[in-house]
Amino acid sequence: MKKNLSILGSTGSIGIQTLQVVQNEPEKFEVLALSAWKNIELLKEQIVKFKPKFAVVKDDKSAKELINKFDHKINCHILYGEYGLNKISTLANVDSVVVAITGMGALKPTMEAINAKKQICLANKEIIVSAGEIITKKAQENGVNIIPIDSEHSGIFQCLEHRWHYDNIEKVFITASGGPFYHLKESALENVSIEEALNHPNWKMGKKVSIDSATLMNKGLEVIEAHWLFNIPLHKIEVIIHPQSFIHALIQYDDGSMVAQLSYHDMRIPIHFALCYPQRVKNSLPRINLEKIGQLTFKKFDSKRFPSVELCYETLRQGGTLPTVLNAANEVAVNAFLNKGLKFNNIIKIVSLAVEQHQNILNPNINDIIEQDREARKLAEKICKENI
Ligand SMILES: NC(=O)c1ccc[n+]([C@@H]2O[C@H](COP(=O)([O-])OP(=O)(O)OC[C@H]3O[C@@H](n4cnc5c(N)ncnc54)[C@H](OP(=O)(O)O)[C@@H]3O)[C@@H](O)[C@H]2O)c1
Repeated sequence: MKKNLSILGSTGSIGIQTLQVVQNEPEKFEVLALSAWKNIELLKEQIVKFKPKFAVVKDDKSAKELINKFDHKINCHILYGEYGLNKISTLANVDSVVVAITGMGALKPTMEAINAKKQICLANKEIIVSAGEIITKKAQENGVNIIPIDSEHSGIFQCLEHRWHYDNIEKVFITASGGPFYHLKESALENVSIEEALNHPNWKMGKKVSIDSATLMNKGLEVIEAHWLFNIPLHKIEVIIHPQSFIHALIQYDDGSMVAQLSYHDMRIPIHFALCYPQRVKNSLPRINLEKIGQLTFKKFDSKRFPSVELCYETLRQGGTLPTVLNAANEVAVNAFLNKGLKFNNIIKIVSLAVEQHQNILNPNINDIIEQDREARKLAEKICKENI
């Protein structure tokens, strides 16, 4: 039987690759709903190709623009905004919701999908950083599986398939390629361009996650994500540099065995795994050729050189609404770097300042998270203006 999918963020890097997986295996998947935000042109092409029953865009204006592109002859309900995203996350005949929206815009539809007991294929990391405890608790209460798409977390998920060894975990290693600037001198970081920062050595991704990879904030966010998704104590999670990006995660067990997950650095592999879960299904995606690679190398991560990772550890140690503020300020600062001329090495300074100035709220509920996210954005905007 086909799996019915709702794909949130279908016009982004993960969304497009999800549709490539679907297109390669049309007998396994049916696309019931798609969402974009501003990219109406690409969404139109996707509607023509995949014939979803629902499509969602940012607002009324974009919805009209999309309908006009079809000369009003369209066999698909066009919805918009938060209502639209919530609707396609809860459709009765949807089996899995792919969350490939970037940023906190994914929070409400994901919570709705969990409440409606849909399986979640989760690419978005910002919502787990910001509200991981609430989301994972809600998923547990509703018996909902969250299958990670982020390659490192797909790796941990696969290494942990034999969950009865969970208590024997000594260490979980998350690998980091180091991004485009790992070997640059600190002084050289001041003048890096947007193009250089977007140019990741191993992965082609959306802009936000590419900049996060260049600041290494992405690794810090992934540490927080791993903590909440797998309930692993923070002191057991370690980042290790592995420039080739073939190993995505390793688990050291207390009997001396280490289990690793390897795959080619192609996001369609973890996407395919998440879409097919709980089955493991044959595909024709690229394989690793060990003889060709020759060697896999590792180095200790230099946390002094890239303080973003330690900032994430410290933020999570303190907990409460601090991770929410860290995430919100980071979204604002990355945006300011991409659009407003903020210098690259000021991104993490702004995040640190926002975190420092925040009055932490312990044991926040979802409304606290939403409100503090909003406040942190205002604060970070203000700090950005002072630094541009
Ligand atoms: N790309 C990767 O390889 C990768 C790997 C691991 C994890 N992730 C994570 O996956 C998520 C998506 O990453 P991506 O690289 O695919 O991002 P992306 O290329 O920027 O795509 C984002 C998608 O979300 C839509 N969108 C943007 N803002 C929105 C909002 N406020 N409300 C609703 N929809 C919105 C965009 O629509 P428009 O195109 O119409 O603007 C687009 O469809 C991120 O959280 C990222 O950290 C990505």
